Amino acid sequence: MSSPATEPPIAPMLTPVLTDTWDQDRSWTLDTYESAGGYRGLRSALQSEPDDLIELIKESGLRGRGGAGFPTGMKWGFIPQGDGKPHYLVVNADESEPGTCKDIPLMMAAPHTLVEGVIISSYAIRARHAFIYVRGEVLHVLRRLQRAVQEAYLAGHLGRDIHGSGYDLDIIVHAGAGAYICGEETALLDSLEGRRGQPRLRPPFPAIAGLYASPTVINNVESIASVPVIVDKGAEWFASMGTEKSKGMTLYSLSGHVVGPGQYEAPLGITLRQLLELSGGVRRGHELKFWTPGGSSTPILTADHLDVPIDYEGIGAAGSMLGTKALQIFDETTSVVRTTLRWVEFYKHESCGKCTPCREGSWWMVQVLRRLEAGQGTEADIDTLLDMCDNMAGRSFCALADGTAACVQSAVQHFRDEFVAGTHTPAWELFPYAASVLHAEPPQRVPAPVGAVAP
Ligand SMILES: Cc1cc2nc3c(=O)[nH]c(=O)nc-3n(C[C@H](O)[C@H](O)[C@H](O)COP(=O)(O)O)c2cc1C
Ligand code: SF4
Repeated sequence: MSSPATEPPIAPMLTPVLTDTWDQDRSWTLDTYESAGGYRGLRSALQSEPDDLIELIKESGLRGRGGAGFPTGMKWGFIPQGDGKPHYLVVNADESEPGTCKDIPLMMAAPHTLVEGVIISSYAIRARHAFIYVRGEVLHVLRRLQRAVQEAYLAGHLGRDIHGSGYDLDIIVHAGAGAYICGEETALLDSLEGRRGQPRLRPPFPAIAGLYASPTVINNVESIASVPVIVDKGAEWFASMGTEKSKGMTLYSLSGHVVGPGQYEAPLGITLRQLLELSGGVRRGHELKFWTPGGSSTPILTADHLDVPIDYEGIGAAGSMLGTKALQIFDETTSVVRTTLRWVEFYKHESCGKCTPCREGSWWMVQVLRRLEAGQGTEADIDTLLDMCDNMAGRSFCALADGTAACVQSAVQHFRDEFVAGTHTPAWELFPYAASVLHAEPPQRVPAPVGAVAP
């Protein structure tokens, strides 16, 4: 891999902000958080008018880190004020997308970053109840969050008349039951209300009729955790990082065939080439074949895209989506057909069944992909797959179906030859499992650079 001449030196590429305290002793405690300046943002927020805080977040350019990149301040601004109804803040901590693994480490290492963000954000939208909806399987995260919330109550950061401001807030940490679809914001609301989690028809949007039919803001963990530091250091400071339309620092999660997997916090707009240099590169003796920019729902990219800026615009122009910045790295030993099949098996399993194209399409896709994996497919199967994608994308109720179609379409677009090979040779002969399996030899590690947090 050659480096472009204009490449900046490595150190300034990392901007540890959310990850700043992760390597400290007992980083998750209130004491550690406060000694690093934690809850300073809250004290200054309580001196401000709620509307000014919404303006500040708008000015910072913060965009939602849950996948779609919707401007956070604008979302808060949709909440009607003076409507006499209760307002709610709901944090989406469901994190179930294959490859996505940033919110769980954040909540484990620095839960108070999120708790402080929830208090400031709730104050801004005039909510008196906030919910953190956590994926049910991660009991350790639930315990850590519950303890952090308890610590915040004991310190007077939560409860009645917070720091004499007259503002009251309660936070409820809620455990989901482990369904990927409950990460879709309206399915999450149904689940929180005690119903089966299935996406709702919109309009009305959650800002008008969300939780218990009241105005509700739903934001990702990383979005809300970014709020305290913006309040503390200012919108201009945040907007000085990143690119023209994609502002700030963010968490990039590297996994797969990479020497140093983990969380890398850097400004939006860094390239995969730079991130691979920080993480020690693709595993030794191998080369990059394909990667996802933001989890399995985002169309795959290849080695041709090493120098694409990883921000909303750059990745969009390359034909994919930024998503959750979950960079799954696959080397030349990986079968694209097998990987696509595994992803589609996941979507088939997680489809909530509400609409026919997604429920039936994902099931049939698995049948066709299994034939191609076994080397028993036909050329017509490839066209059938693409036809199914056309019938699912944009014709289903929520983005789960779009994500399923996107991963199949992009795999065929970039690696059609491998699908053709699936008409005569099994994928396990062309790409033996043993060659692509991770840790067949002891994991190779590079010394972690400052700001990089290994898993
Ligand atoms: C099937 C599906 C699963 C999703 N899972 C998550 C998730 O686990 N966490 C998350 O923050 N957003 C998830 N989203 C996106 C949410 O619907 C929503 O856009 C997001 O929580 C908004 O937060 P943000 O504006 O802060 O990004 C998912 C969307 C879909 C369609
Ligand atoms: S697209 Fe799939 S997951 Fe989404 S509502 Fe329809 S059936 Fe459910």
